[in-house]
Amino acid sequence: MPMVSMRQLLDEAAKGGYGVGAFNVNNMEQIQAIMEAARETKSPAIIQASRGARSYAQDRYLYHLMLAAVELYPEIPIVLHLDHGNSPETCKSAIDMGFTSVMMDGSLMADGKTPSTFEYNVEATRKVVEMAHAKGVTVEGEIGVLGGIEDGHGAGVDALAHVTDPGQAEEFVRLTGVDALAIAIGTSHGAYKFSKKPSGETLKMQRLIEIHNRLPNVHLVMHGSSSVPQELQDIINKYGGQIKPTWGVPVEEIQLGIKNGVRKVNVDTDSRLAITGAIRKVLFESPEKFDPRDYLKPAREAMKNIIAERMRQFGQAGHAGDYEPTSLAEMARRYAQPVVA
Ligand code: G3H
Ligand code: 13P
Ligand code: ZN
Repeated sequence: MPMVSMRQLLDEAAKGGYGVGAFNVNNMEQIQAIMEAARETKSPAIIQASRGARSYAQDRYLYHLMLAAVELYPEIPIVLHLDHGNSPETCKSAIDMGFTSVMMDGSLMADGKTPSTFEYNVEATRKVVEMAHAKGVTVEGEIGVLGGIEDGHGAGVDALAHVTDPGQAEEFVRLTGVDALAIAIGTSHGAYKFSKKPSGETLKMQRLIEIHNRLPNVHLVMHGSSSVPQELQDIINKYGGQIKPTWGVPVEEIQLGIKNGVRKVNVDTDSRLAITGAIRKVLFESPEKFDPRDYLKPAREAMKNIIAERMRQFGQAGHAGDYEPTSLAEMARRYAQPVVA
């Protein structure tokens, strides 16, 4: 089937009451890992590329790898999403290339670290909605600011400094018409999220529930949702790595989020940890090896395993075949129809 809009995937997830992982990629092996996990678990797939990924890989390579995935996995609905677009121009270039969904992260200025104003965010996001919806492409916006800055996205402040205000979230959706809304409830990007095991109080789940109650039809997105499993940290450290003690977001908290309107769950760090651990193991145990396939194959397998596990935990497993793809042209037609109150 052709690549589909994220709106369709998330609407279906809402009907089915499950979440969909959105996994970051930078190269062929990561795309293959996600697609194999999707086939094994019969899951719809959201594959996302950041600005950094687009520049690392040259986005045309990534796009053509995605076309190969579409051809090789006809039974899987696949979304190609831009992660953390920093300006309407970045979003436009992704839409022009064929991405079926974009994130306009106007919670930060174009530098990706300075918190913006509400007005700036509304203006930038509204512009993207207008141009994306005309082509049937989905838009994710963000209100509130994530903590951390490890991977270049975040305000570098305490994760609880800019938790999303429910009233602002409601106003933001009304003014922009976004399809999906990323909210800040205390997570941050990267491996170093929490310095001790999070208790049930660490994430602001009540906020999330309040936002969902105000916006029951908006798909909520949780960024910074890697769980940073201890086993993966241990593998890296056993084979010469130096990951300092750290905790990620417990899967049960994500599952609670999914029960309360979270439909898209962003995961990148867990894949990075799985890949790095597998490569370190091979090179440590067999220092004579130098064929990249000797370590990239186990790395790809390790990423596939963690993603398949997440697909099962988020509830998307078994749902790949639930629906026929809606074309982007049809999505555009629906967006153009006047909203009936
Ligand atoms: O949220 C950020 C993702 O983990 C992508 O990170 O910009 O280093 O590719 P990146
Ligand atoms: P993690 O760093 O927790 O994997 O979050 C990734 C993310 O939010 C990508 O947008
Ligand atoms: Zn993110």
